Amino acid sequence: MPRSGTAATLAAYEFNPRSLEAGKKALFMFPAAARLATTDCGRMSAEQNTHGVDSAGQAPSPGHVLQASALTLSYGAGKPVFSDVSLHIGQQEIVCLLGGSGCGKSSLLRVLGCLENSDKVQTSGDLQFLGQALSEPHPRTALVFQQPSLLPWLDAAKNVGFGLDFASQPKIDAQSSSQRVQDALSAVGLDGQGGLYPSELSGGMAQRVALARALVREPMLLLADEPFSALDAITRAEMQELLVDLVHRWKTAALLVTHDIDEAILVGDRILLMGGKPGQIVREWRVNIPRPREADPVAVTALRLDILTALHSVRHGLAPQAEALNFSI
Ligand SMILES: Nc1ncnc2c1ncn2[C@@H]1O[C@H](COP(=O)(O)OP(=O)(O)OP(=O)(O)O)[C@@H](O)[C@H]1O
Ligand SMILES: [Mg+2]
Repeated sequence: MPRSGTAATLAAYEFNPRSLEAGKKALFMFPAAARLATTDCGRMSAEQNTHGVDSAGQAPSPGHVLQASALTLSYGAGKPVFSDVSLHIGQQEIVCLLGGSGCGKSSLLRVLGCLENSDKVQTSGDLQFLGQALSEPHPRTALVFQQPSLLPWLDAAKNVGFGLDFASQPKIDAQSSSQRVQDALSAVGLDGQGGLYPSELSGGMAQRVALARALVREPMLLLADEPFSALDAITRAEMQELLVDLVHRWKTAALLVTHDIDEAILVGDRILLMGGKPGQIVREWRVNIPRPREADPVAVTALRLDILTALHSVRHGLAPQAEALNFSI
């Protein structure tokens, strides 16, 4: 999803005079980012939260990094893309969002990141980050997309550090900033390679830089939209392992949008299946298979079959079976 992904990645940054040169170039390259970066994201704020409870009637939990209740989104005057979507992401939890093409996964991710803020978009519902109403992109939320969207005139280290000095970010001095960049590069296996330019990076290395750029913000929540789908199978498997490792070591939480059932099973603590028109969360699985999950092919296959059956039902418009909700393996 290069178009919206690029815009959303850059919209997470805030262009200010200190980054004017880079900002100008970015705006030239990605004009959609300007609109997203400067418009208000207040539609999902507390004043619209009439009851402060999720669809299951639970009060917002401080144990959750993110809690969304009854989210609905429509583009223009059209029918909602998704409606009445409620979900939560626990601290240090990896949640995978699966669903057929066009069911609204990327749109939902943008709403959760508070990035879906054009005048042509109608949203409603309640969104909370650590129990507080979210009205703009949170500085402890970071985004990774299918395309690494690196700035070609900056080396890897500068790409990773880009945005750290933006007004929306907590203030840190230059030395701490540089240390954070080195730590993030090292965490993704690119120690000593910060001087390379995007044109000198392989696809896998570029996506590692994109991950480091997310980590450098010390996120409590990583929102990732098909971050590995453009990579070859071997690099992809390495990156899946790296993502799980990073989430555990950096004590962040993650929402990973993916088309790939195996990726969801290997990576997720929980899997949500989105489907229907308008899109809704129709099934949920808690994955209790010990890691590394490849070591238990019987359990992985059983879960894969169950997810495939559910996907098939959703695609053919069959109602999800209530008794199968919260299926655990
Ligand atoms: N900016 C937009 N303006 C109008 N319609 C949009 C916009 N972005 C997405 N849509 C529509 O919303 C629906 C959901 O799109 P979205 O990209 O969220 O789906 P998705 O589940 O991420 O699909 P995929 O798996 O192919 O990436 C689609 O019908 C799409 O055409
Ligand atoms: Mg998408």
